[in-house]
Amino acid sequence: MEVIRSIRQMQEAASTVKRAGRRIALVPTMGALHEGHVALMRAARSKGAAVAVSIYVNPAQFAPQEDFKRYPRDLDADTAICKREGVDVVFAPTDEEMYATNASTWVEESLLSRRLEGERRPHLFGGVCTVVAKLFNICQPDIAVFGQKDYQQLCVVRRMVRDMNFPVEIHPVPTVREADGLALSSRNQYLTPMDRAQATVLFKALSVAQDLFNAGEINAHRLEAQMLRTVEFAPSARLDYAEIADAETLAPLHEVKRGDVALLAVYIGKTRLIDNLIL
Ligand code: PAF
Repeated sequence: MEVIRSIRQMQEAASTVKRAGRRIALVPTMGALHEGHVALMRAARSKGAAVAVSIYVNPAQFAPQEDFKRYPRDLDADTAICKREGVDVVFAPTDEEMYATNASTWVEESLLSRRLEGERRPHLFGGVCTVVAKLFNICQPDIAVFGQKDYQQLCVVRRMVRDMNFPVEIHPVPTVREADGLALSSRNQYLTPMDRAQATVLFKALSVAQDLFNAGEINAHRLEAQMLRTVEFAPSARLDYAEIADAETLAPLHEVKRGDVALLAVYIGKTRLIDNLIL
């Protein structure tokens, strides 16, 4: 497995793979790899393509008060996981390599990005779209694999790919959960043992919405209120939002139908976690 740090080398490696008639499947990550990322790598491998994993904590998607500086980084542990999973190449650029000091071009999706996460974290999706567009130009993937755990990100990237005509197939992968339902996330590392015990409240709230919907409740407001009530039960938890939305446009709903998505963001102590479930 090759670890490439320079954009030019990565572009050359990608062109060589293409000339040999092989497709490339890209797994974009910010590192701190866990079993959720492993599921993405395995999905990429199942496509029969050469697998590239990018590892880059993208400063452009963090606001100044957010956790960019303390975001977990361990390139040696990450590359060991990639090697074990049969990844062909890891692309791990530095900030200087990725962004010119006077970079002044940014990619914005202006509709799906505005609600939910984008409303609370206005930097997020401009940064994500910009870095994903750059990674597509650098790694030249035919397929890019994204987790459903970051559901809004998946929708925004799909929209960007459609609108900007990137010749890339977006392959979504279901969320990987701990036995008690907590969705795997690099940010779970921030949880204290007491917080960790209460973090199950996210999946509990989503499951309550799922059960009520299955039992015939289609009023979005009542489902959202029940999610709030479930979250309030955990003393360290504070709800940021709980919403049922259209699975493609993320528009808010009055009446819920099968295939819509329940999304929530919750502070557990100081750690903000997100999760979602397709109803
Ligand atoms: O989901 C992530 O880890 C990041 O948002 C991504 C897609 C790698 C862009 O930095």
